[in-house]
Amino acid sequence: MKRLQRLMTGLAMILCLQMQAQTSQDAKMNAFITTLMKKMTLEEKLGQLNLPGAGDITTGQASNSDIAKKIKEGKVGGLFNIKSVAKIRDVQKVAVENSRLKIPLIFGMDVIHGYQTVFPIPLGLSCTWDMPLIEKSARIAATEASADGICWTFSPMVDIARDPRWGRIAEGSGEDAYLGSQIAKAMVKGYQGDDLKKNNTIMACVKHYALYGAAEAGRDYNTTDMSHVRMYNEYFPPYKAAVDAGVGSVMASFNEVDGVPATANKWLMTDVLRNQWKFKGFVVTDYTGINEMIDHGIGDLQTVTARALNAGIDMDMVGEGMLTTLAKSLKEGKVTMQQIDMACRRVLEAKYKLGLFEDPYRYCDENRAATEIFTDANRKAAREIAAQSFVLLKNDNKILPLKKGGTIALIGPLADAKENMPGTWSVAADFSKSISLLSGLKEVAGNDAKILYAKGSNLDADSIFEVNAGMFGKALGRDSRPAAEILKEALAVANQADVIVAALGESAEMTGESSSRTNIEIPAIQKELLQALLKTGKPVVLVLFTGRPLALKWEQENVPSILNVWFGGSEAGSAIADVLFGDVNPSGKLSTTFPQNVGQVPIFYNHKNTGRPLQEGKWFSKFRSNYLDVSNDPVYPFGFGLSYTNFTYSDIKLSSASLKGAQTLKASVTVTNSGSRDGKEVVQLYIRDLVGSITRPVKELKGFQKIELKAGESRTVTFNITPEDLKFYNYDLKYDWESGDFTIMIGGNSRDVKSADIKWVK
Ligand code: BGC
Repeated sequence: MKRLQRLMTGLAMILCLQMQAQTSQDAKMNAFITTLMKKMTLEEKLGQLNLPGAGDITTGQASNSDIAKKIKEGKVGGLFNIKSVAKIRDVQKVAVENSRLKIPLIFGMDVIHGYQTVFPIPLGLSCTWDMPLIEKSARIAATEASADGICWTFSPMVDIARDPRWGRIAEGSGEDAYLGSQIAKAMVKGYQGDDLKKNNTIMACVKHYALYGAAEAGRDYNTTDMSHVRMYNEYFPPYKAAVDAGVGSVMASFNEVDGVPATANKWLMTDVLRNQWKFKGFVVTDYTGINEMIDHGIGDLQTVTARALNAGIDMDMVGEGMLTTLAKSLKEGKVTMQQIDMACRRVLEAKYKLGLFEDPYRYCDENRAATEIFTDANRKAAREIAAQSFVLLKNDNKILPLKKGGTIALIGPLADAKENMPGTWSVAADFSKSISLLSGLKEVAGNDAKILYAKGSNLDADSIFEVNAGMFGKALGRDSRPAAEILKEALAVANQADVIVAALGESAEMTGESSSRTNIEIPAIQKELLQALLKTGKPVVLVLFTGRPLALKWEQENVPSILNVWFGGSEAGSAIADVLFGDVNPSGKLSTTFPQNVGQVPIFYNHKNTGRPLQEGKWFSKFRSNYLDVSNDPVYPFGFGLSYTNFTYSDIKLSSASLKGAQTLKASVTVTNSGSRDGKEVVQLYIRDLVGSITRPVKELKGFQKIELKAGESRTVTFNITPEDLKFYNYDLKYDWESGDFTIMIGGNSRDVKSADIKWVK
């Protein structure tokens, strides 16, 4: 006991010293910035709020470019999506040698899921349910980006998304606030590390604040509208988690919230973000976010810019409304000098925290650029992480894993498509170096198996659709022959094989920004190919590329084996081969629900019960909440994913079924690997609050543990549950828990769970 007390006192002292050190560092920073700001003119202050796009700056030309002229005049706070140490050094030099006050620029980039070493798209990454691994991916991304001159990333994107029509569902962590929050924290930690001044850490920017994923009808940039209870309980948590983890910046979303665009929404940007959540960093708009408010219909450029500043926005991406209109608004009393000063101070603080005032070239080290980017070690990590993100959706007759032998026919438009492997938002990728499935299969099979290949079909019958779905250098190389001829060739190849691997689905740019779809099936022409391949009577494995949950009802009913590989990053091809051949046992679990058809959308596991729920086991009942034409069930529920082995769950053991106050409930299950291979399983804890002052979801994820079990091994997994886990925002938006009955559920996905009831009173 005494030792414990001494330990606690020691810890308290360390904490106290750390706080004192922080306070003195803050005081030093504040003094530095105050002195600097005293020297700044109004124009120079507005310049700090300006984040133009870099345009086309060629190395060695920086000092002559248009942007350089503005930098010299102190009209630029930072630049984004400019790449390479040489270019960044050139531009930084203009700022620190040729501008009056020599204030360094901040350099941002969309480093979304890796830099040159690309990791799976965030939706795929989230299916690892592996926080250390996710943090590691962000750490590597930060190391590579900072080695190339970047000190700020527009990531993590944490928008909760329940609508697979929305293309940007690919960029986030799926539908669940709890999982999304854990991932938000891991990413911020990975990017920012423990000290932003280190030359291998970068500032994170959580986005898109807020509710961007709830765009009506899944159409990008569309209106969102929801109750505050839903915002606080279901959509806000991941943004808040990033703020709690110390994220340095926040990006405003394009959409409106409560009828006011987020960029001008004072409640969102100041009341919630700064006053309730105590966010201390700076807020940047999204690309032309201020100017777009003219089209939203809330005023001209001067008006909307003043509204943005008044709401709490600090930096203006691309649009230059702040640079060009705020002086006039100040004169006319539409904004105050204090507001401009505050925004300017916050931007300068970010630069200070990144160490740019001490050394503006901190992130410009040619040696690091040459040795720390796309290294063997990073690529190895990317391969391992990608393999963890794949989700085995079906595996009848144990077709998978494949034998490294015989003849394998690899067929499909995504089979030999290395440009598409990194997925959407891979601006720093070198496509020529990414690994296609064809080369991955050949590499992993070596001389043991014969790999044959045919394209089988184009991505889509419509060539215009295919152009739009192949932007940013990711075209699939359209085959101009008639479809029947392409198919015939593929069937001839398939007929020579022992097993067929069909590489089908979406191209990388069928998801991502402005890539919404109303049809969320595999394109028809590819489905026809799949049907023809199945007709050969040979075993068929569908390797599914996608950036969104697809409607796979037909595939689930007809294809024996389905491995969902998302877009796995630069090493995708090798990682897929590792899993297909069983060198890695798949363990990914879905972070989004896969619907039967688009009509069920939005569909998510943590829905409300309604007053007329369909009785369990029923397909349809008149006057119940259901459809005439499909059941309410998804094809694959949230949390779902198979393995090459099997896991069985014992019933739940509780430390007590009746609890009072701040006790801890221990809920345990014994998980057994009852198959013949070692494997990983994500053990998931869900809780249902049976009676509340407001309606509560039918279940909510409250914990998970990813465990590794040898074949035949059993382990007891225990969750410690406290009243903290029962809290929610009530009608008055008070965060608290309520006495009552709860159901504890534990299982390998959100549908197949063991359950036990408890009573917990205050
Ligand atoms: C996107 C952001 C991105 C920004 C800068 C916008 O169009 O919505 O996610 O960070 O561009 O590239």
